[in-house]
Amino acid sequence: MPAVPQIPLVDVKAQYAPLIPELKQRIADVLDLGVFVFGPNVAAFEEEAARYLGVPQTIGVGNGTDAIVLVLNALELGAGDEVICPAFTFYATAEAIVRAGATPVFADVDPHTLNLDPESVAERITPRTKAIVPVHLFGRPAPLDELAQLGLPIVEDAAQAFGSPAIARTGVASTFSFYPTKNLFGLGDGGLVAVTEEELGERVRMLRFHGSKAKKIFEYVGTNSRLDEIQAAALRVFLRELDGWNAARREAAERYRELGLGELCEVPADDPAHVYHLFVCRSPLSDAIRAALSEAGIGNAQYYLPPLHLQPALRFLGYREGDLPETERAAAENFSVPLWAGITAEQQERVVEVVRAAAAVAVH
Ligand SMILES: Cc1ncc(COP(=O)(O)O)c(C=O)c1O
Repeated sequence: MPAVPQIPLVDVKAQYAPLIPELKQRIADVLDLGVFVFGPNVAAFEEEAARYLGVPQTIGVGNGTDAIVLVLNALELGAGDEVICPAFTFYATAEAIVRAGATPVFADVDPHTLNLDPESVAERITPRTKAIVPVHLFGRPAPLDELAQLGLPIVEDAAQAFGSPAIARTGVASTFSFYPTKNLFGLGDGGLVAVTEEELGERVRMLRFHGSKAKKIFEYVGTNSRLDEIQAAALRVFLRELDGWNAARREAAERYRELGLGELCEVPADDPAHVYHLFVCRSPLSDAIRAALSEAGIGNAQYYLPPLHLQPALRFLGYREGDLPETERAAAENFSVPLWAGITAEQQERVVEVVRAAAAVAVH
């Protein structure tokens, strides 16, 4: 029997629970109007999100994976084009590049930030390289200034970093997911593309609806990938709360440091623009620590093992174990501990206590 109290890895319901009456009203308003796609909430959310992000326009789409595919399609990338991205990220980053018809080329990560290492990216640039897709992993901004110096279009996979002040300015586009654990989440699937160039935005806007501006004339072969009115209605409420939630996440991250978690394992170094989608630590003892957390009823996870270059579906790219040493080490050694906007000091103390005991046992 796991020890009580149980602490989940993330408690999304605790975040939206106080907003349920307002959410019910917003959903009731959608039902009263009877418009479920391309309605007033999507239009308003696209504007509010653009204002929040400081970009000329955003385009609501079906999910964060389609958001990447749509941007690559709008950039007219395809067969023979290479796109550099990390292999230490969720599978969708590379899958989207393949779906767009291009070839993912994996660069290694910085062992401390777990984000793309610009030197490793530079080494992989060829005449066929057409774009870089950095991921703001776990809420930490990728090194955009250094990547921008490489002179290639950047498409920021910002699925995990809505609200970070350092993102969505450098790239030609940034893509977001509203999967219901993200910093800004919906009540189901949803996604967003933010562009820094209007023309690219117009093309994404057409591609998300069958390559059409008007309903009867189809100018490109696109897809059907739209954000719906109920999602947009909820997202408008949640966008208003986002800065408060991200501040609470940052406070919780700081509390883990104050509680001494950093003496037991490598914890993320702070960056003022980090929005802590997840709090991911590293230790050679990670297996023992995760086992102890599970035994104590505490949510935990190990991310992206195997990393993308070793995933069965991407075997055709020809990578082998050992090709990306930092990525492989990070995948083997990481573990995440509970964090959400609203986790209590007592819950965090309990997490650290269990990690401390596990580390002591594993060392002896
Ligand atoms: C880094 C990253 N990219 C892309 C995605 C894909 O987003 P979605 O699940 O909305 O398709 C996710 C999350 O699921 C993600 O974490």
